Amino acid sequence: MADEHAPVPHPLDETAVEQCVNQAIAAFDEAETIEELKAARLAHTGDKSPIVLANRQIKDLDKNQKKEAGKLLGTARGRIQKALGLRTEVLEAEHAAKMLVEEAVDITAAPPRRPLGSRHPITRLQEKVVDVFTAMGWEVAEGPELESEWFNFDALNFAPDHPAREMQDTFFVEPAEAHLVLRTHTSPVQIRALLDRTLPVYVLAPGKVFRTDELDATHLPAFHQFEGLAVDRGLTMADLKGTLEHFARQMFGPEAAIRLRPSYFPFTEPSAEMDVWHPGAKGGPQWIEWGGCGMINPNVLAAAGIKDPEYTGFAFGMGVERTLMFRNDVPDMRDMIEGDVRFSAQFGMEV
Ligand code: DAH
Repeated sequence: MADEHAPVPHPLDETAVEQCVNQAIAAFDEAETIEELKAARLAHTGDKSPIVLANRQIKDLDKNQKKEAGKLLGTARGRIQKALGLRTEVLEAEHAAKMLVEEAVDITAAPPRRPLGSRHPITRLQEKVVDVFTAMGWEVAEGPELESEWFNFDALNFAPDHPAREMQDTFFVEPAEAHLVLRTHTSPVQIRALLDRTLPVYVLAPGKVFRTDELDATHLPAFHQFEGLAVDRGLTMADLKGTLEHFARQMFGPEAAIRLRPSYFPFTEPSAEMDVWHPGAKGGPQWIEWGGCGMINPNVLAAAGIKDPEYTGFAFGMGVERTLMFRNDVPDMRDMIEGDVRFSAQFGMEV
């Protein structure tokens, strides 16, 4: 640091002035920071610095001495200013370099991020199915999960004591007089869609359904289905098969095919089980049972108020979980309901 009390040199004392200059230069060189340099500058070039005070004494000298002293002190001040300028440059450059390092931003560093969550593959698969049908001009329909027994069974031609009612293990909801059930399938949406719309009707109804099944690798007590329904003039089984074939190809690739086997459902006549030829199945290409379908039973059309025999229709229904299982190789349905994001994330953004 500069010596605050440095003696004021006589303006003609070359040695004292030289010492003064050397002290100033030494003080500047000693300054390690811009703040320290500022203090040294004040001490050696400020109003009270020896060199400035010496300069003030020139006025008391006689004319010749004034000239000599002016030259001596002027040179001295010039040297001090020059040393100050050089040191300022050095310290400012050092400061700038330090700031560059301290405030450096690594634009290549990965920002801290929360891992992205993932939408559930059941939701995505449902959306994919919906996309296939809306692309053909079909509408999406919905119905309540707490459904009246009439829509769930009666309107679908299940006789009151028909054994078919027992085909599905139903959650009946109290009080019994209310005749409410947790819907056992999406088929009641067929009736609702027909009651809500004018003909022709082409709807796809995805949704949650409930059965008193034990939870195991292939059964969930709450799961999802999608239901297709078309009612128009002169629809035939060929329309059903063509629609299902297109659907199968959209879901399983261009080599997929559909096979129908005679079956029974109260709400369709004739009824069929449908198998899909799954070219990409895990154990090699094969037929896999996919769902039920058929031509809508005239009793069902009548329950929905459609009596004109020109109108016929077809319907189909399958399980979403089951579809995800064999389409995307999920061996255990329970993985679909545990809510572990690692399960969902492995499907990426597209199922
Ligand atoms: N609802 C039936 C079930 O859950 C599936 C089904 C079969 C739906 C035939 C239909 C159909 O629309 O025509 O087992």
